[in-house]
Amino acid sequence: MNRLRDDVLITHEITVWQFVLNDLLTNGFVVKENDTGALAIVDPGARAEDLIDAAEEWGGDVRWILVTHHHGDHCAALETVAEEFEDAEVVGPPGGPFRPSRPVSGGESLEFGARSIQACATPGHSPESVSYEISPHVFVGDFLFRLGSGRTDGPGASTEDLFRVVRDVFEDMAADVVLWCGHGPPSTIGEERKRNPFWRIALEGAPGEAVGAVDYRGSRVPVLAWADDYDGGRKALLELDEGRRVIVPGSQVRVLE
Ligand SMILES: [Fe+2]
Repeated sequence: MNRLRDDVLITHEITVWQFVLNDLLTNGFVVKENDTGALAIVDPGARAEDLIDAAEEWGGDVRWILVTHHHGDHCAALETVAEEFEDAEVVGPPGGPFRPSRPVSGGESLEFGARSIQACATPGHSPESVSYEISPHVFVGDFLFRLGSGRTDGPGASTEDLFRVVRDVFEDMAADVVLWCGHGPPSTIGEERKRNPFWRIALEGAPGEAVGAVDYRGSRVPVLAWADDYDGGRKALLELDEGRRVIVPGSQVRVLE
């Protein structure tokens, strides 16, 4: 069941106000560190006033505005939100449509009340993508949609990178780590390792045989796996020439078998 409404989830460490920002169902988050009330805003892609009001309602102590990647649906309302919270630092990958006061590319640690925020490089959906870990929670942007994936057919995107990050970053995390996705509901490491068809291939290798074939840009292409998408559609992992792989929305292909 997709969650399409704003919602608040209270956990031991943080309280998360998840906003569905737009027709793409992009998520923006206001995050409260429970021990001190310190706040962070993640991916202000739209609905600036609602994010601001929520942060004010929770005390207004915004320390960080975190952006996972450069796509407009994750950062278009950044300026408005940043103007409202002048003491907050804007954190994100450099070289995009906004200028972070604290550029990150992975490996950085930020103080967040009684806890910390670790930036982690998670390329795949886009080359600059970073995730933000507030243990045991990770805000992963479009690296992952629950039991599926962000697409990897955009500029600089790489399925090889995405699969490598699944192996190098996420494989060893504890099963109960919560993954907050850029679109759709959150998930956990345990769920994804067990049930995500793309992660299974990242971790165990591709099956011997394709599960089907599609027409993609005028060519017949084998499908290695299908996954459900947060919007009710599907995504396909395709094998292109020379073993190159790409994850595309179902709307980009025509099923042949
Ligand atoms: Fe994106």
